[in-house]
Amino acid sequence: MIQKYKYGIPFETDAVPQSIPCAQGTPSCGTVTADESGFRFTCRMSDNEAVYGLGEALRGINKRGGRYVSFNTDQLFHMEDVLSLYASHNFLLLAGECPTGLFFDYPGGLEFDIGFTQQDMLTVSCKHADLYLYIITGSSLTDVVKQFRHAIGRSYIAPKWAMGYAQSRWGYAVPQDFREVVDHYRKHHIPLDAVYMDIDYMERFKDFTVNQETFPDFPAFVSEMQERGIHLVPIIDAAVKAEAGYPVCDEGLENDFFCTDEQGKPFEAAVWPGLTYLPDFLKPEVRQWFGEKYHILIDQGIEGFWNDMNEPAIFYTMQGMEEFRKEMQDFLSRPAEEADWFRVRSLSSGLCGNSNYQQFYHNLNGERICHEQLHNLYGYNMTRAAGEAFEQLCPDKRLLLFSRSSYIGSHRFGGIWTGDNASWWPHLLLNIQMMPSLNMCGYLFSGADIGGFGADVSRDLLLRWLAFGIFTPLMRNHSAKDTRRQECFRFEHPEDFAHVIGVRYRLLPYLYSEYIKAALNDEMYFRPLAFDYPEDAAAREVEDQLMLGDGLMIAPVYLQNASGRCVYLPEDMLFVKFLPDGTLHQEPLSKGLHRISAALNEVPLFIKKNHILPLAAFAETVAALDETHLELIGWITEPTSYTLYQDDGLTKDYSNPQHYLTLTKEPAKP
Ligand code: GLC
Repeated sequence: MIQKYKYGIPFETDAVPQSIPCAQGTPSCGTVTADESGFRFTCRMSDNEAVYGLGEALRGINKRGGRYVSFNTDQLFHMEDVLSLYASHNFLLLAGECPTGLFFDYPGGLEFDIGFTQQDMLTVSCKHADLYLYIITGSSLTDVVKQFRHAIGRSYIAPKWAMGYAQSRWGYAVPQDFREVVDHYRKHHIPLDAVYMDIDYMERFKDFTVNQETFPDFPAFVSEMQERGIHLVPIIDAAVKAEAGYPVCDEGLENDFFCTDEQGKPFEAAVWPGLTYLPDFLKPEVRQWFGEKYHILIDQGIEGFWNDMNEPAIFYTMQGMEEFRKEMQDFLSRPAEEADWFRVRSLSSGLCGNSNYQQFYHNLNGERICHEQLHNLYGYNMTRAAGEAFEQLCPDKRLLLFSRSSYIGSHRFGGIWTGDNASWWPHLLLNIQMMPSLNMCGYLFSGADIGGFGADVSRDLLLRWLAFGIFTPLMRNHSAKDTRRQECFRFEHPEDFAHVIGVRYRLLPYLYSEYIKAALNDEMYFRPLAFDYPEDAAAREVEDQLMLGDGLMIAPVYLQNASGRCVYLPEDMLFVKFLPDGTLHQEPLSKGLHRISAALNEVPLFIKKNHILPLAAFAETVAALDETHLELIGWITEPTSYTLYQDDGLTKDYSNPQHYLTLTKEPAKP
């Protein structure tokens, strides 16, 4: 059951398209105070009550014991005490006696204190008491999530090729950079379906342009790559370069499509292109205008995009820079011993800070609303601009789309990646822990930068990360400029990488089937063990293993120098290891604690007893997969079947019953 409570005059975010009448009276769970001083929800938690949710947030699967702030931030350092990342997913799931979901539909800054200040107290608060609160009760954690997911609408579905392995790096600039990547991947038979294009393909970082000097015939280059089985996926940034004569800028100015400053003039902020304007994506006509621009690249053969810098990221504003310059003049005019260096340093690092969001406005139906109040909706509406346009431009074809910034609602239009992580072992664990939380909030097509974006990766970290990344719907290796080169072929024994990534392709019939079924049925593709085994106290506390779809459990190795790990089996399972010679190690294990070994070039997984895992033969691209011959593996003691979803991976005819195939396996004869 979902109950919706209204406080003040909420902004209609369209996060919940399902029409739910507002309930009267006080909520069935917690205590609310809502007045001029703001909104505050409090609720006492029982001793061992776990709290799940928050989608893209730091810390573990169980969010208890931490503080979190929903305020989308271009955050380079994902450390344990960081409060905000790029997304705001204001959904919590209290795993008490009566599982309860809470969704705070509020587009400004929202604070969560989940037993941090006081161990048994949950507090959610914000400055303005204008919001909708949804309270969802159900028979189980899974049931609550399903009801919530149904209310927020079906998750975006990516084309199947986008589930192939992809290579990306900030810095690929000329065709030769891309050709080199593809040549090496193909030479070493490391599977590859896509290469991402970061900002350097553009003409001076202007959206919807391609640098004509470096790519004189872009459509020909796109088809050259397609002929080699490669999809090119360009980036689109939120801000539009302020440059007279650049059509996107000129049209935006002519039509008042940009956010405005205090005086009502187009607001200027610096991002990669230098000074830019920010499209007012909250206006439907701006979404339509910006969304249509994607056709410029679609017409040249492009089939997918990643939307970036849409928190929106701001390096500095004109106002901020002016104040900084004044301070600098004052600093320079003083004798060195009197000059306040610390002040200048903090002013300089504050140039890109959150105060910028108070300096500009959205103009909605004649009303000027300060951006800060609607801040968390910006990236969502950029994704929506593209997603809505794709429906018009290619109604029957799935295009790839994912974004850095998001708010619940954008999951209907695109997926997300989790931003600028680093090549640190704890970020591999963070990736594992974040995935089920994202699924609760509707983000199924998601993943992290495999290998880590910032810092230098080591070979063992990349291999371990890939051995987890093969399970995430978005499987992209991406890294920052000036870090160690992170393409798989740059390391010793590329055949190990070919093997690990190859397992993704062998598993793809199952992974794709589970991904699509999760999207169509409002289910989670990755689940914490607590969801499937709520009665099992040991399972409830597992933070580093996940259930995946119908019959799988994964337990990735995420510590350096570990030759294996301990795994908790909540029931009897078949332990399977994909060995580098292409064979499988299969070992039935009984419920309980086990120590398993897994070398860097081996991929471990677990199949529940009497469940089937269909496997394809190795392939180097999704298109080359032979899905007509599937090997069925499992520990089968009774006749068992699995419903496999298969389609063309590109069109949208999801409900066709022909897409569902029943695979069956009999127990081996004694
Ligand atoms: C941002 C993105 C990153 C990208 C870079 C350059 O930091 O998060 O993925 O490579 O910008 O475009």
